[in-house]
Amino acid sequence: MGKKVIRIGLLGVGTVGTGVVRLLTEHREELERKAGAKLELARVAEKDTKRALEAGVPKEVLTDDAYNVIRDGSIDLVVELIGGINPAKLFVLEAIKSGKHVVTANKALLAHAWDEILMAARQRGVEVYFEASVGGGIPIIQSLSEGLAANRIQSIFGIVNGTTNYILTRMDKDGKTFAEALKEAQKLGYAEANPTLDVSGGDAAHKLVILSSLAFEASVPLDQVYTEGIEALTPQDLVYAREEFGYVIKLLAIAKAAEGQIEVRVHPVLIPETHLLADVEGAYNGIYVVGDWVGATMYYGLGAGQMPTASAVVSDILYLARSIAYDVAGRAGWGPFGDIEHAPAKLPIRPIADITCRYYLRLDCADQPGVFAAIAKILGDHGVSIAALAQKERSKGNKVPVVILTYEAKEKDMQDALHQIEALPAVGKRNLLIRVERGE
Ligand code: HSE
Repeated sequence: MGKKVIRIGLLGVGTVGTGVVRLLTEHREELERKAGAKLELARVAEKDTKRALEAGVPKEVLTDDAYNVIRDGSIDLVVELIGGINPAKLFVLEAIKSGKHVVTANKALLAHAWDEILMAARQRGVEVYFEASVGGGIPIIQSLSEGLAANRIQSIFGIVNGTTNYILTRMDKDGKTFAEALKEAQKLGYAEANPTLDVSGGDAAHKLVILSSLAFEASVPLDQVYTEGIEALTPQDLVYAREEFGYVIKLLAIAKAAEGQIEVRVHPVLIPETHLLADVEGAYNGIYVVGDWVGATMYYGLGAGQMPTASAVVSDILYLARSIAYDVAGRAGWGPFGDIEHAPAKLPIRPIADITCRYYLRLDCADQPGVFAAIAKILGDHGVSIAALAQKERSKGNKVPVVILTYEAKEKDMQDALHQIEALPAVGKRNLLIRVERGE
């Protein structure tokens, strides 16, 4: 038998840390029953000690130096809720080195240092849990690493950034511009401190590294995730997509197994309005995972916020506490990588130029004879076939938006065609290409 009391060290009492302290206090009895041990918040580090005291951290356990937690030999597991890469990485690696199990919500850290952290943990025989790093309260990490473990994952389509989903929903439902909707999202507290990370797709790319590394037992380098944001979208694109073609526009994190390669990309996507992900609105997240035997599965919930995120952190604490209490934590290596000797694979990542999909193309054209014909010829010359096409009446000036939906084409051919189309004197520069996915 392991331990009767699990001593928890907490680093960071910000929004999520405050939620964790609250949850551990308010649900103490049930949590301890489930863990089979007492859960003691033994040491807490927070630079802003006033904030920590207000959050209910007892004075006698509080310190302003993280090393007082990490180097305390009586601590069993360290919960890192500082965020960002440094110094969080130093603290996590040091905690692992000193034999402590780790719970973290830190997506940026895992996306940048996946191999280093997980291999360090395996070598030291400790476990790292990170349910809160993707999808807030949605148990997607457990689902991929345990619940779907019998499957070969074929594809993941994730709405994993609440800020961009909120913005796109407001643009779609209320006709707001990108800038107006972003301001609203910031006011509601969904955006990261630096909203660029949200709107540029960077936050979703961090999360995709974690999801795809888990799904494919691999180590997916962040710099190989093709990433585009939503800044160039206009409310008209959402109207055209829906009314002309029956699609909605979402920012998706996509991972696909593709004939010995994997595709990992984050960009705006037209998905059919009948797809389950089309109904994921506002700040909600939705993750659609297809396994070879299970088929399609879908996970939905709040991807951010104090208590949803704390819910995931405390579930990790509980899971680890139970393993420590029964003296099995770290014994079997770290779950998703299976065999303790087995290092994460380096899978070849398909270059974006080689992917194949359908495309939505919005072109800013002069309204004059022969323009369609010239565009259609260039597309045809590149093997890109038009599936549907719409032109709106010109509103002002001589310019008119032309929207085209193509059949499947290779990205490189589509990009080459667009390049040539943009060189036509009748076509302006404010054009937009969005990939179309069936989401299967
Ligand atoms: N900024 C993130 C989002 C928070 O909008 O989803 C959760 O990671």
